Amino acid sequence: MLFSVIIEPMKSSLDTYPLTSTAIAMDTGQVRLTIIEEPDWFLEQLSREDSEGRLHLPYWTYLWEASIGLARHVEKIGTRLKDAQILEIGCGFGLTGIVACLAGAKVVFTDSEKDALLFAQNNAQQNAVANLTNFVQMDWNAPCFRCKFNYILASDVIYEEHHWEPILDLLRNLLASNGIALFSEPNRSNAIGFFKRLTHNGFSYKKSTCPVTLDGKTSKVCIYTVHRANAETANMT
Ligand SMILES: C[S@@+](CC[C@H](N)C(=O)[O-])C[C@H]1O[C@@H](n2cnc3c(N)ncnc32)[C@H](O)[C@@H]1O
Repeated sequence: MLFSVIIEPMKSSLDTYPLTSTAIAMDTGQVRLTIIEEPDWFLEQLSREDSEGRLHLPYWTYLWEASIGLARHVEKIGTRLKDAQILEIGCGFGLTGIVACLAGAKVVFTDSEKDALLFAQNNAQQNAVANLTNFVQMDWNAPCFRCKFNYILASDVIYEEHHWEPILDLLRNLLASNGIALFSEPNRSNAIGFFKRLTHNGFSYKKSTCPVTLDGKTSKVCIYTVHRANAETANMT
């Protein structure tokens, strides 16, 4: 597929997008989300090139199956998340972080795209968890926090190899010594490369899989629980 490269400021209000609602089924209820209808159109319109000539595609305009898989995992371990400080990177529409908030965690939602954060914020409000949240526009190449987080949530963010090193650095710098990072991805063949790199850099991980059905199609989502190799491993899932 060919994408047109448009270097223009992005729109900044939800109302300028064609909107639709969806309800994501969880074990204990539903999470209601406002998302973009027909995101394929935006993929072409909002593509842009960075200063190094890399094409940036607005993947935040889609709800990805990896976020549903990770949200369900987060719901399962929910009792451990009460009052935890959580950072979500590349949050998109915010589903996973919202489920963490519903479990009583305090979540900082981040994404490099301002409009993704507008959707995440709106979705947090719809699910009555906005009081437990912060929304920060942050590129993982230039993290803007000094504090440490108990958990880092990362759904479908390791699809391109040039993201790996900044995300690894972010884990090194922002994950508490006994902290846990939860990654999910749709069983891509390149993911193993990222997790090999993690293990060569002082982290361990456990992998599990779950089926996720989205738009009538069922696919396998992989969930990775990552911690520092020398951390206490009790209670880590
Ligand atoms: C494939 S989407 C996943 C969105 C969401 N986590 C999900 O699973 O539905 C990747 C997300 O990462 C964000 N992203 C891409 N590059 C980024 C960067 N350098 N820093 C922060 N976020 C980035 C995108 O804007 C997008 O929201």
